[in-house]
Amino acid sequence: EEKLNILNLPSLEGEAKKIIPTGGFGYIFGGAEDEWTLKENTQAFNHAQIVPRALSNIDHPDLSTDVFGLHLKTPVMMAPTAAQGLAHAKGETDTAKGVAAVGGLMAQSTYSSTSIADTAAAGNGAPQFFQLYMSKDWTFNESLLDEAKKAGVKAIILTVDATVDGYREEDIINNFQFPIPMANLEKFASGDGKGQGIGEIYAAAAQKIGPDDVRRIAEYTDLPVIVKGIQSPEDALRAIGAGAAGIYVSNHGGRQLNGGPASFDVLADIAKAVNHQVPIIFDSGVRRGSHVFKALASGADLVAFGRPVIYGLALGGAEGVQSVFEAIDHELEITMQLAGTKTIEDVKHAPLTHFQYND
Ligand code: FNR
Repeated sequence: EEKLNILNLPSLEGEAKKIIPTGGFGYIFGGAEDEWTLKENTQAFNHAQIVPRALSNIDHPDLSTDVFGLHLKTPVMMAPTAAQGLAHAKGETDTAKGVAAVGGLMAQSTYSSTSIADTAAAGNGAPQFFQLYMSKDWTFNESLLDEAKKAGVKAIILTVDATVDGYREEDIINNFQFPIPMANLEKFASGDGKGQGIGEIYAAAAQKIGPDDVRRIAEYTDLPVIVKGIQSPEDALRAIGAGAAGIYVSNHGGRQLNGGPASFDVLADIAKAVNHQVPIIFDSGVRRGSHVFKALASGADLVAFGRPVIYGLALGGAEGVQSVFEAIDHELEITMQLAGTKTIEDVKHAPLTHFQYND
């Protein structure tokens, strides 16, 4: 496989649709109900504008950043996404290689096609986080937390916005069942995760999660616990009060609660409430370098994306993933230059304007 020639990330969806089987593609691109929130996620970046700055005397912006004790070459990271074997036979191991090649950060999903240890090994020392879907079965939770620790994972992302699965019509239309096993589920009673619909998979997950669960997980593992799926200042503070070492602002790419706001629209208020107590990861709808810039300028420390990376994986394996990161990093670099920002720290302090436009 070789590098992809990418004009822009939105164009990857149509290319990937040609090669990913219908059910898998529907699972990947789809959102909840009529997908209003999904669509607004990307539109909402137009609610803020970057201030163009000239005469700034800068060149070659530096995309590197230090966060969670890690030195990363880019503030753009791979969101935890399930079942990447739907997109490519090598699944998460190829994603890990592609992300490692750009010096970025990868988050593994509980519902990965490949195991925690195999995905970590493919990263060959590159930093990775592990995302936990909390089960009702604490031996399952503890076993995965132990495995993640043993594999050298740097932090746990606890996803709290999926206590039931969103109403995803694509999966109903396609009667979608996962055609491939989920490596981390194999040794538990739910079977190998193959041939199950998302409803069944989620049924094994806890449908009731509260601050005490965050506290219990944070006390069990000595890794930092980042709480994912936060969309309000109140919940961010509640998570920090329960021991969260990071806040992950996300609406799950519009796959869970349709009718909620675009994730970008809630970011600044959450960042204000968090007030630098812990780092913030942001995702949902990020497709452009300018989107990454606006998220950083609104309080994010890292900016994640999901679907474009899966499409890159489908189209070009590890090199496809690498190409997707290089494409968005290139756009970010141009944006930083034209906004007069030399470093990611500069971007975080850059002002945004909020003129109203009708389109
Ligand atoms: C996801 N997401 C997700 N989140 C999570 O915490 N655990 C998971 O297993 C998954 N699985 C998953 C599968 C697929 C196919 C997608 C598209 C998404 C949500 C993911 O982490 C992230 O929040 C979104 O992907 C961000 O939106 P964009 O960038 O895809 O628009």
